[in-house]
Amino acid sequence: MAFPISDLPTEIRAVVAPQSVTVCEPGETRLPLNQIPGDYGLPFIGAIKDRLDFFYNEGRDEFFKSKIQKYQSTVIRTNMPPGPFIASNPKVIALLDGKSFPVLLDVSKVEKRDVLTGTYMPSRDLTGGYRMLAYLDPSEPKHASLKQLIFFLLKSSRDKVLPQFESCYAELFETVEKEVGEKGKSSFEPPNEQAAFKFLSLAFFGSNPADTKLGVDGPSLVNKWLLFQLHPILSLGLPKYIDDILLHTFPLPAFLVKKDYKRLYDFFYESSGFVQDEAEKMGISREEACHNLLFTACFNSFAGIKVFFPIMVKWIGRGGGKLHTELAQEIRSVIKLNGGKLSMAIMEQMPLVKSVVYEALRIEPPVPYMYGKAKKDLLIESHAAVYEVKEGEMLFGYQPFATKDPKIFERAEEFVPDRFKGEDGEKLLKYLLWSNGPETEHTTAANKQCAGKDLVVLVSRLFVVELFRRYDTFEIELGEASLGAAVTIITSLKRGSFERE
Ligand code: HEM
Repeated sequence: MAFPISDLPTEIRAVVAPQSVTVCEPGETRLPLNQIPGDYGLPFIGAIKDRLDFFYNEGRDEFFKSKIQKYQSTVIRTNMPPGPFIASNPKVIALLDGKSFPVLLDVSKVEKRDVLTGTYMPSRDLTGGYRMLAYLDPSEPKHASLKQLIFFLLKSSRDKVLPQFESCYAELFETVEKEVGEKGKSSFEPPNEQAAFKFLSLAFFGSNPADTKLGVDGPSLVNKWLLFQLHPILSLGLPKYIDDILLHTFPLPAFLVKKDYKRLYDFFYESSGFVQDEAEKMGISREEACHNLLFTACFNSFAGIKVFFPIMVKWIGRGGGKLHTELAQEIRSVIKLNGGKLSMAIMEQMPLVKSVVYEALRIEPPVPYMYGKAKKDLLIESHAAVYEVKEGEMLFGYQPFATKDPKIFERAEEFVPDRFKGEDGEKLLKYLLWSNGPETEHTTAANKQCAGKDLVVLVSRLFVVELFRRYDTFEIELGEASLGAAVTIITSLKRGSFERE
């Protein structure tokens, strides 16, 4: 049934759209009020069917596309993995367009308590018995103080970011170049993980893991620990039923990763004394602070870079020689004008580099799933209709469908390198949502936007700069990976032949 709210008599409008409903006000919209289509199927069986379709039978994009087709709606009821026996309630309302999705970014409308990973929460035993900052709703007092602590960490690392990034990623390029020279190709992921872990340790804590008991084991320890938290929503590409039973049916027991976590914890505990001092002043125990620092460095930062840099390499790699030449020209000429030196300020003078990074974040957002529980009854608007959501219902957003919404972005499925360039391009930044908030807004202690938003954009630009400072062009091969990004194999790198700074 569909009818425009604004056609209703005022007294009925007040019932359909009461005061607490703030997504759209009565009379503001002429869109029809529709029931949310879709169904959850039979208990247990419906959730398993959706899970198998999501991971194996259809794949995640097709899973949502087929439901949009079937129900002729971009707001749909569905189950989301993992379902039984890991999540007690897999039922969500999926928001699959750029207009309805942003309700998930508004913490006055959705509760972000324990929803980082979706309909289940990993055991607290994986994080020292504490609920980490990323699982706290801003209404919980601890959220603000822990986020302030992360802001302190970021502030104190400011001057170290650029030099440490340059040196850690110089090692990455040496490794990749050597392998390509010897074997004709090099995988990007392992050297990226080593570079990212070393860079984050040095920039945040001034500590080189290689000089400690951790040695070069950091990335593999973190990967194992991440798997224990994220396996319910990953596929490892094993045969279907083995993959499903192993990863999606029961939580992997935390004790199997305890020793690995302890090694990481000891490293961060010994390296982060100055942040722990600050934490104590703020009334946070050294122990809780340290678990949070580990989580921020390894889950938020390391995993983010681990996923996003291969995404950038993939899209820029596919962009081809012409794009590579334009990037190299822009980067080298700006650095030359600055006397051959890179600085934070001159990064601002590279509009194509900036746009390319934003475009990669748009076309393949590194964190594709977002969850939040309706804090109150809401009316949510898609492009075509308005839907009523009840307090307590779980909302889920599939971000790639929001940032590739053809009603918002022209040629939405295409990687358009200069999309965000110039005045018109910048107007689109408010629709770029990778950080769990519009790119035009700031992260604060009161919202749930990524604390490292500006750092991520900076290091991503730095990566592009370092790449094209050295090379004119490169070629890649792609495969699938469990954590969203593609396995990127670099098959050729052409050393800078024209003017270098
Ligand atoms: C490419 C890298 C990164 C990506 C893609 C990323 C993405 C995100 C996203 C999507 C969220 C919101 C998750 C949700 O609530 O649903 C988030 C939260 C967060 N991120 Fe990042 N992030 C990255 C790097 C970093 C870095 C370098 C830091 C370092 C400070 C960081 C710190 C945080 C923190 C502390 C939160 C929780 C914020 C809160 O609870 O208010 N992230 N990040």
